[in-house]
Amino acid sequence: MSGEAKRSAPILAREGTGEGMPTHIAIIMDGNGRWAAQRGLPRFEGHRKGIEAIRRAVRTATDLGIRYLTVYSFSAENWRRPEEEVSFLMGLLKRFVRHDLAELHSSNVCVRIIGEREGLPSDIRLLLDEAEQLTRNNTGLTLVIAFNYGGRQEIVSAVRALARKVKEGTLDPSAIDMDIISEALDTRGIPDPDLVIRTSGEQRVSNFLTWQTAYSEFVFLPDFWPDFDEAIFRAAIDEYSRRDRRFGGLSAKAS
Ligand code: IPE
Ligand code: IPE
Ligand code: MG
Repeated sequence: MSGEAKRSAPILAREGTGEGMPTHIAIIMDGNGRWAAQRGLPRFEGHRKGIEAIRRAVRTATDLGIRYLTVYSFSAENWRRPEEEVSFLMGLLKRFVRHDLAELHSSNVCVRIIGEREGLPSDIRLLLDEAEQLTRNNTGLTLVIAFNYGGRQEIVSAVRALARKVKEGTLDPSAIDMDIISEALDTRGIPDPDLVIRTSGEQRVSNFLTWQTAYSEFVFLPDFWPDFDEAIFRAAIDEYSRRDRRFGGLSAKAS
């Protein structure tokens, strides 16, 4: 399937060489509700279709040799939605893990979950643990699922953990640096995202990877998440590869 789509969208970044290719892509999968509304369907149909878009994104990321793909599935603020929608989204995660875990494992995908586990129903916690345990030694794509995740909440948890160590006397406050904070976050060991993609036309971060996106490139797409496909994904990576990342210094091209 990917051969045909590959020809349909040019890719400036060189596949396989890592040159111009992002190591870590993070996606704010937005617009499921509007996709459904446009078709006169209930919102949950958009969420259901969104799962297929996740499968396509994982496949494309694997084909392109991307090392890390993070998907924002449920935010710490999404509890504000009507109860039926929240429970539908919980059920969808369960079905996704139950249905796709074996295939992800056989594709050598390593699954990581970020976000607050406490407060989630115990059957979901068990499934998330199982997904991480089963795939932890896999060496292909790392698929990071942000579920019940909030960037600010993650920082609060990290600060608490570090404060406890200071209180116990195992951490000197003057030793706290950016690496120590990074390692106290749920994303420990995962490089910061190079590229953040948000679908649906909204241009905001919505509490996603607050610490980690300090120097990420952002690509905002008009498409709704259920329509996200390989060609759209490749076009976003092409856009990224045309950016000039300076990290506060001078352009590599100009020097
Ligand atoms: C993204 O789609 C999925 C989640 C936030 C869980 P939305 O449900 O936010 O869809 P819109 O933004 O209302 O269209
Ligand atoms: C962000 O989308 C969260 C996810 C994609 C899971 P939202 O639809 O919740 O964001 P806002 O409310 O429009 O900022
Ligand atoms: Mg939304």
